[in-house]
Amino acid sequence: MNTPAFKHETFRDDYSFSNSAEAIRRFPFPFPEDDYMYSVNIEQHEPGAPGSVLEHLIDIDEHYLAECEDRRLTLEQDPDRCIITPHMIDAQWDMVELVMESLAADYPQWFSLSKNGDDWHWINTPMGIDQQFRFGDASTLPMPPFEFITRQVQGDWIIMDQRDDDLFADMGMVTSQADWSIAFDAGMSFKEWHGPVPQANEIGVFDRALKYLLHLQYGSPVRRLNWTMTVNPRLDTSPENYPFWGPDNVSVTPENVGDKVYLRVELQALFRLPRSNAIAFSVRGYLISLNELVTYPRWGKRLHRILKGLHPDLSEYKGLDHYRQTVIDWLAPMDDGADLGLGT
Ligand code: HEM
Repeated sequence: MNTPAFKHETFRDDYSFSNSAEAIRRFPFPFPEDDYMYSVNIEQHEPGAPGSVLEHLIDIDEHYLAECEDRRLTLEQDPDRCIITPHMIDAQWDMVELVMESLAADYPQWFSLSKNGDDWHWINTPMGIDQQFRFGDASTLPMPPFEFITRQVQGDWIIMDQRDDDLFADMGMVTSQADWSIAFDAGMSFKEWHGPVPQANEIGVFDRALKYLLHLQYGSPVRRLNWTMTVNPRLDTSPENYPFWGPDNVSVTPENVGDKVYLRVELQALFRLPRSNAIAFSVRGYLISLNELVTYPRWGKRLHRILKGLHPDLSEYKGLDHYRQTVIDWLAPMDDGADLGLGT
C-alpha cells in the first residue's frame, strides 16, 4: 500500500471507525465459493500483490494508530489481556526481532532499526517511540519485551510453546478477539483451546492442522483466513466485557443492518521462532460494514449465499443467530443468482 494517512477513529463508544475506498478495495474477502465449511485452509505466507494485505509479512494500514490506542485502553482496564509465562523469555526476544525487523524492512518511512552488536535502536515514528536497548536484557526496556513490541503492532498475537508433540498457549497479547479469552486459554493445548469449536474436530481439521504445525519451519511462515461477524466495529468483543457488547446483537433492524453489522475477517499467520522454537500466531482482524461491503456487488451476492447455507452449528458458535436472517433479507434483493465462479 502507498503511505496511508493514519485515521483518527474509535472502536468503542461513538464507533467512528470506517474504511477508505482504498481499504475497502484491499479488504481480504474470504469466500472463494458459495459455500463455507471449516477446512485446513493453510497456505505459505508468501508476499502477495503490491497494495494487498498480503504484500508484507505484517500488514500496517490506515487503522494502525487507532488500533494501537484501542489496545492501550483495553490494557489499562484489564492488564490480563497480556499474559507472559516466565519460561517464554526467549520467545519474547524472538518476537521483538520478528516485528522490528519486518516493520523496519517493509515500512522504512515509519520504522527504523539499527544494531551495533546487541545494542539496538528502534524508532517508531507514528507512535513517537525512540528506544535504545540491549537485545536480551529486559531491564533496558520500559516493560516486558513481548508487551513492548505487541503494543506497537496491529492484531492479536498468541505464542505457543512446542513440547510433547503438542502446542501450548503460553504467551499472548489478545485485545481484539472474537469472544474468547487468553486468560482462560493460557496454558491449554491445541485441542483443548479449540474445544468449543463445532464440527471441525469431527472432520479431522484439528488433527491435521496440529500435525502440520508441529513441522513448521523457521523462515517458511504460513497463513489462513477465518471470519465471523460483529455488531458495531468493536475490537474488544471479549467474554470479559460481554455485558458491554453482547446486548448489541439484538439491536439489528432492517433499517440499521447495513451500518451496524460488520464482516470481521482474520488474517492468521504462523511463524516458527528461531531461539525458542515456539510458534507465533498472529490474528490480524479486518472489519467492513455491510454498506461498505456491497459497494462490491459480487461480495454482497457471495455473502448472501454463504449466510443462507451456513451450518446452524457454525451460525450459533459465531454468535450470528440473532441477526443472520435480517442480514440475509437485506442482501437478498442484491443477489441476482448469477454464477460467480471460483475466486473472491
Ligand atoms: C477457533 C486459537 C490455529 C482452526 C479458535 C479459537 C481460538 C483459536 C482461541 C476460539 C475458540 C473458542 O471459541 O474458545 C488458535 C491458535 C492457533 C490456531 C492459538 C495456533 C496454532 C488454528 C489452525 C486452524 C484453526 C491452524 C486450522 C484449521 C480454527 C477454527 C476455529 C478456531 C475453524 C473456529 C473459528 C470460527 O468459527 O470463528 N482458534 N487457533 N486454528 N480455530 Fe484456531
